[in-house]
Amino acid sequence: MKQDMILILDLGSEENTRIARAIRDLGVYSEIYPHDITVAEIKKLGNVKGIILNGGRNNVVDGVAIDIVREVAGIGLPILTVRHEGITHRDMECFSGDDDNLAKELEAFVFGVCAAEKNWNMRNFVHDQVELVKREVGDGRVLLALSGGVDSSVVAALLLRAIGERLECVHVNHGLMRKGESEQVVEVFRNQMKANLACVDARERFLSKLENISDPEQKRKIIGAEFIRVFEEEAEKFSGIEYLAQGTIYPDIVESGTKTAKIVKSHHNVGGLPADMKLKLVEPIKQLFKDEVRACGLELGLPRGMVFRQPFPGPGLGVRCLGAVTVERLEALRESDAILREEFETAGYDTRVWQYFTVIPDFKSVGIRDGARSFEYPVIIRAVNTVDAMTATIEKLPWELLERITDRILSEVERVNRVLYDISPKPPATIEWE
Ligand code: XMP
Repeated sequence: MKQDMILILDLGSEENTRIARAIRDLGVYSEIYPHDITVAEIKKLGNVKGIILNGGRNNVVDGVAIDIVREVAGIGLPILTVRHEGITHRDMECFSGDDDNLAKELEAFVFGVCAAEKNWNMRNFVHDQVELVKREVGDGRVLLALSGGVDSSVVAALLLRAIGERLECVHVNHGLMRKGESEQVVEVFRNQMKANLACVDARERFLSKLENISDPEQKRKIIGAEFIRVFEEEAEKFSGIEYLAQGTIYPDIVESGTKTAKIVKSHHNVGGLPADMKLKLVEPIKQLFKDEVRACGLELGLPRGMVFRQPFPGPGLGVRCLGAVTVERLEALRESDAILREEFETAGYDTRVWQYFTVIPDFKSVGIRDGARSFEYPVIIRAVNTVDAMTATIEKLPWELLERITDRILSEVERVNRVLYDISPKPPATIEWE
């Protein structure tokens, strides 16, 4: 079953995503296309019920005025023209800018003019994607790097439903995962969902590559490059695999039309996976926004803890174990982070705070333990809220919660004698310390 679709043509707007989201919120599917899509291409999409010509400042894309109204009118579909005169969406001509008004205008167009059906929901999406993948992949086999993050987990669950044992998942444990994460990947995918899952224990390998490396950028590069190497080596063990699945999502491919003539650009999530692998890409969630990815995960029966996992950087705990990573500090970091997460869950702060974690610096301070002088590491708590990770504010944690976490870290985590709370917003600080 193909869902009805409202097509948004980007004529240099910064509002494409907002409009697509608003239409999907109405229960109708919507996709954004660059202004130079051809009429033939639009016709091929088949299920388009209406077109929104979404203009930027006077329909100018990269300094060139775009006029495709007449051309598009020839298709014979209902058209809504949106023109933005100002710099921000507050100055839009058609919409006053507030979300209520936008929703009302769009509702009138989508249902009143286009007579689109309200059939965009996760059940239909999963059904359609499963059919699509079956058709695309045929009898082929698909390889997937399964980190345990939301996107790769949802892709795994979806592909498992579509092609079952012809999916080969590879999980690389680089030793920079949070406590229990690799185990959860094995439990959920291998034990419960019966997926083919190769687990690579590359902990020693990553640690030795990171030995004595204290520059943050160099650490990131080493972790990224080593990940590719391990994955490549593992991939070589499979013969006859034609496809590589990726958890690319919509924000990865949609960009504002004002930056480039083409808004939709290829920008792969697992950036840096070897170009010469000669595998065909399967990207079953590339049309979903992040919250839709989570809804899809729930629809596929993934545990809530996995679906609502907070963002976690690719280099993992590597960028939270400041300076040169050592096993001792990495363990202290992992344990303190687990305590923080546990206490946040108990206090109901896990659903309230966008991202929270601990950081361990590479210096010690003097303290007292068992009546004697101690010289041990501090642990820093970070808890921030943000909409787009470009700026962030600090969660004002209750004193009692901070005290409880501090007590537990100081008594349960070895080599730690102080707990600090980082109250710096972004900017000037970043969310991560490295
Ligand atoms: P910063 O530290 O730049 O972080 O304020 C913004 C958001 O991005 C996450 N982050 C990363 N995510 N790979 C990722 O996938 C990375 O290398 C990386 N570095 C930072 C960070 O956790 C925060 O959510």
